[in-house]
Amino acid sequence: MNCIAAHSIKNDNILEIYNVEKKFNEGKRNEVHVLKGIDFQMKSGEFFALMGPSGSGKSTLLNIVGGLLNSTKGTVKINDVDIYSLKDDALTDLRGSNIGWIFQSFGLIDNLIALENIIIPLNLAGIKNKDARIRALELLTLVGLEDRADHFPDGLSGGQKQRVAIARAMANEPLILFADEPTGNLDYDNTDHVMQIFKELHKEHQTAFLIVTHSQHVASYADRSVELSDGRIIG
Ligand SMILES: Nc1ncnc2c1ncn2[C@@H]1O[C@H](COP(=O)(O)OP(=O)(O)OP(=O)(O)O)[C@@H](O)[C@H]1O
Ligand SMILES: [Mg+2]
Repeated sequence: MNCIAAHSIKNDNILEIYNVEKKFNEGKRNEVHVLKGIDFQMKSGEFFALMGPSGSGKSTLLNIVGGLLNSTKGTVKINDVDIYSLKDDALTDLRGSNIGWIFQSFGLIDNLIALENIIIPLNLAGIKNKDARIRALELLTLVGLEDRADHFPDGLSGGQKQRVAIARAMANEPLILFADEPTGNLDYDNTDHVMQIFKELHKEHQTAFLIVTHSQHVASYADRSVELSDGRIIG
């Protein structure tokens, strides 16, 4: 199947992070200095795990590198573009075309069937009507759920919901996929199934993955794994 084609890659590094700091409530009595100078780079197509204790700033870092949260300081480049130098519209475009997101709680729209959940990002990217339906069905086939296309999220198991979310995240052929505890709500078998799908997508489409996890088992699928501790990357 060739429903997922690679975007053009401008640089050997898909993600570059230089001296990123984050303070919440800056200058106030309740200031929290969460990230204290983060530097790391991910190569195109790399599969990367980010670990660390609860509250260490993993989600904060992921949100910053994914363009969802401003840093206090530092530079984030995706595919050679400094994302915080972009105007809002350009950042939204870059997010829509280069980045896929997967969350622990799936984030599916409850009153839309599985197929429609995947059609939404396709429509936003300008793919409409029959083409969008065909493409969405291809994506559902990719995650082994073509027979659940007309099910609402309520009628799907946790593992199935996450597979629909993966199909949705892949809809616009992202260069990089960010996943925050993607298996946090899944049992061991479903975790394995989801990780196998990630590995297949990674192998077949050279999608880069940055996965936040508490689980050594999940991290063992990664090419590289690092830990966030006291606001810095170690390992
Ligand atoms: N909007 C916010 N305002 C103030 N403090 C915040 C905000 N968001 C996060 N924090 C603080 O930043 C720190 C890091 O939070 P973050 O959610 O990034 O941790 P995490 O490593 O993802 O934890 P977990 O493993 O539990 O998901 C925490 O101390 C948290 O209280
Ligand atoms: Mg978190």
